[in-house]
Amino acid sequence: MAWSTSAASAAHGAAASHFIFLVLLLTSLACRSHSAPPEALVTNVPGFAGVQLPSKHYAGYVTVDERHGRRLFYYLVESERDPAQDPVVLWLNGGPGCSSFDGFVYEHGPFNFESGGSAGSLPKLHLNPYSWSKVSSVIYLDSPAGVGLSYSKNVSDYSTGDLRTAADTHTFLLNWFQLYPEFLKNPFYIAGESYAGIYVPTLSHEVVKGIDGGVKPTINFKGYMVGNGVCDIVFDGNALVPFAHGMALISEDIYKEANTACQGNYWNGSSGKCEEAISKVYMEVEALNVYDILEPCYHAPNSKVIPLNSGTPQRFKDLGGTSNPLPVRTRMLRQAWPLRAPVRDGHVPSWKELGVASRVPCMSDEVATAWLNNDSVRSAIHAEPVSSIGPWVLCTNLNFSHDAGSMIIYHKNLTSQGYRAFIYSGDHDMRVPYTGTEAWTASLGYEVIDLWRPWFVNEQVAGYTQGYEHGLTFATIKGAGHTVPEYKPEESLVFYSRWLDDSKL
Ligand SMILES: *[C@@H]1O[C@H](CO)[C@@H](O)[C@H](O)[C@H]1NC(C)=O
Ligand SMILES: *[C@@H]1O[C@H](CO)[C@@H](O)[C@H](O)[C@H]1NC(C)=O
Ligand SMILES: *[C@@H]1O[C@H](CO)[C@@H](O)[C@H](O)[C@H]1NC(C)=O
Ligand SMILES: *[C@@H]1O[C@H](CO)[C@@H](O)[C@H](O)[C@H]1NC(C)=O
Ligand SMILES: *[C@@H]1O[C@H](CO)[C@@H](O)[C@H](O)[C@H]1NC(C)=O
Repeated sequence: MAWSTSAASAAHGAAASHFIFLVLLLTSLACRSHSAPPEALVTNVPGFAGVQLPSKHYAGYVTVDERHGRRLFYYLVESERDPAQDPVVLWLNGGPGCSSFDGFVYEHGPFNFESGGSAGSLPKLHLNPYSWSKVSSVIYLDSPAGVGLSYSKNVSDYSTGDLRTAADTHTFLLNWFQLYPEFLKNPFYIAGESYAGIYVPTLSHEVVKGIDGGVKPTINFKGYMVGNGVCDIVFDGNALVPFAHGMALISEDIYKEANTACQGNYWNGSSGKCEEAISKVYMEVEALNVYDILEPCYHAPNSKVIPLNSGTPQRFKDLGGTSNPLPVRTRMLRQAWPLRAPVRDGHVPSWKELGVASRVPCMSDEVATAWLNNDSVRSAIHAEPVSSIGPWVLCTNLNFSHDAGSMIIYHKNLTSQGYRAFIYSGDHDMRVPYTGTEAWTASLGYEVIDLWRPWFVNEQVAGYTQGYEHGLTFATIKGAGHTVPEYKPEESLVFYSRWLDDSKL
């Protein structure tokens, strides 16, 4: 208002009109610098037949290293409620090496993907009534470089580890917020699952160091959430035996034998007797789907991929029911991740090294692969074409080092500084069993301020929760496996929005 008055009083001839023109130009530039980059707006989504998207979508690359040409791909789904006020959440899938399009396509993204029919044909996209964009703006990020649609021009970048990944992702966030400064005032959270149990605390730590050190722009970081997350070799490594026992997967006798021989120290039990007992445990459970013991998994020596809908017995199809309106992931039957490969310090064996071929066991990636390898989709979401960066795969074989150690001190540090933490577990996951997660959260020694109790959705028990001081919450989701929102989408949106609103689970 002030400038237009002074402009009017200076209105004398050509100079004045130039002045007004200049002011208008500066004003429009200033406005533009306060909003999302227009070239990143996604204006059509191939496969989606709806008239209009329920909120704005933006996607593209952010360069984190100019010299190496290292660029990370993100897809932002603005909140469908109130993007100006709602929290902004960064979502990371694990691996290490898995694309966050796993979350976008199969878990809590804006669409449910229906197979296009024949293999490789473009899927049909329907709006997901339980999208986490109902209550928040979500950034799906492919990280580190080499994963999903992210890449580097220097292949030496594909040898990396926890600490470099956290540093790169922090650089991504600082650069991203410079492109989207309008979101700097919104509460910001970091979330992820599985190996992101390492990514989330290490990145949160970088962000907090940045805030404390006055790094600009200042990120309005509030807290983080981790689902079925890796945390600590001792807690996670000792979790399987009690889980298998409690779930009635091993006999009382084998449990007692393991307990006597290993004295509760199952993960590195050095005695021969302990080794022997643990082998018996593995033999009892290894035919199961490690990501969800209710789900089927096929184990023929030359494991052939058999989608569930082609002549699979009905008893398999009925297992692990979901409230999702579409069968979100064709359940494939094939060999599981070897149970004897927990995440230890140092080099993390790649899928290839584990001998599980190029695809993640028990997990179909059919619709995501068909969609993300279509060049009209790539072009619509501003990703490089297949000819330039190669095909999208769910999980990449990186040369990755787990070099950040245990996450316990990170969790202590972050929560003691007032950042909120939500640690949740699908209670039928055997990859990162809830028994370990429950034990390490209790081990922080925080006072329990909300005693173990059921939490409810639609007046039904959806799981159990225990609340601690320092804003730490642990919760289980009843009947869910490793990728919780895939099988419990409604319950997941409920716990997500209650936690973001800081209301009782
Ligand atoms: C790739 O990066 C490494 C490490 O910075 C460097 O030594 C090497 O020269 C780079 N290669 C190319 C082709 O730029
Ligand atoms: C894998 O990374 C390590 C460093 O963490 C490096 O020493 C090794 O040469 C890399 N291996 C390959 C095959 O690139
Ligand atoms: C096994 O783990 C225990 C802690 O749980 C540790 O004290 C011991 O040194 C470890 N042994 C080996 C061989 O790593
Ligand atoms: C990619 O999708 C478009 C529709 O957006 C379709 O016309 C085209 O045939 C697809 N390309 C391939 C290679 O499937
Ligand atoms: C948390 O970590 C930071 C950075 O390493 C350190 O300066 C700070 O003292 C730690 N705070 C607590 C409470 O451990």
